[in-house]
Amino acid sequence: MKIKEAKFLISNTDIEKCPPPDKPEYAFTGRSNVGKSSLINMLVNRKSLAKISGKPGKTRLINHFLINNDWYLVDLPGYGYAAVGQDERSKWKELIEKYVLYRQNLHCLFLLIDSRHKPQIVDLGFMQWLGVNQIPFCIVFTKIDKLKKGELRKKIDGYQEKMLENWECMPPYFTTSVRTREGRDEILNYIFNINRGIS
Ligand code: GTP
Ligand code: MG
Repeated sequence: MKIKEAKFLISNTDIEKCPPPDKPEYAFTGRSNVGKSSLINMLVNRKSLAKISGKPGKTRLINHFLINNDWYLVDLPGYGYAAVGQDERSKWKELIEKYVLYRQNLHCLFLLIDSRHKPQIVDLGFMQWLGVNQIPFCIVFTKIDKLKKGELRKKIDGYQEKMLENWECMPPYFTTSVRTREGRDEILNYIFNINRGIS
């Protein structure tokens, strides 16, 4: 899919103020600093459409972007960021969960996982919650430029093994790097096919 246009629409914490649910929507979530905003910028070929920071906790709102006048892309705040304190952490979690349950046009949630890390309870728990609520999601293993090929394979195999303790199969997954742009075509094709009703 070619990205012809990417427009920022609105940021908010009030899910009722999100744009009308009249187009397919794809949201990106995951722990703070995992690379959500960077991945969105890579997908749409823009340096700073979504705000990026070396410091976790940069994205604090639900940010809607309109792509090719055809579908919505959403940058969500990161969850599980320790330094903001329990109160704010549960507020973000609540916001993400509310958004996910409320947005009927959400076609797929991309859950980002730092490919270097072991399976984390907070991610596994969130996936469990998605499963219970029948929310379609994919996993994106990010920052793969930081691992050697063999190491990446081992990490993914380990992840799969952990997931298969509770799931019958792995959800679709992608591997990405904003440095090498790996994974970009695969994710855009996946979205394109859903938009066209192919998958
Ligand atoms: P919050 O909004 O704070 O939750 O973070 P985020 O998940 O949106 O992460 P963000 O895109 O702001 O990136 C966090 C840091 O990771 C930045 O310093 C990025 O440059 C870096 N980063 C993101 N993706 C990659 C990648 O594929 N490879 C490498 N090496 N660094 C990356
Ligand atoms: Mg962000």
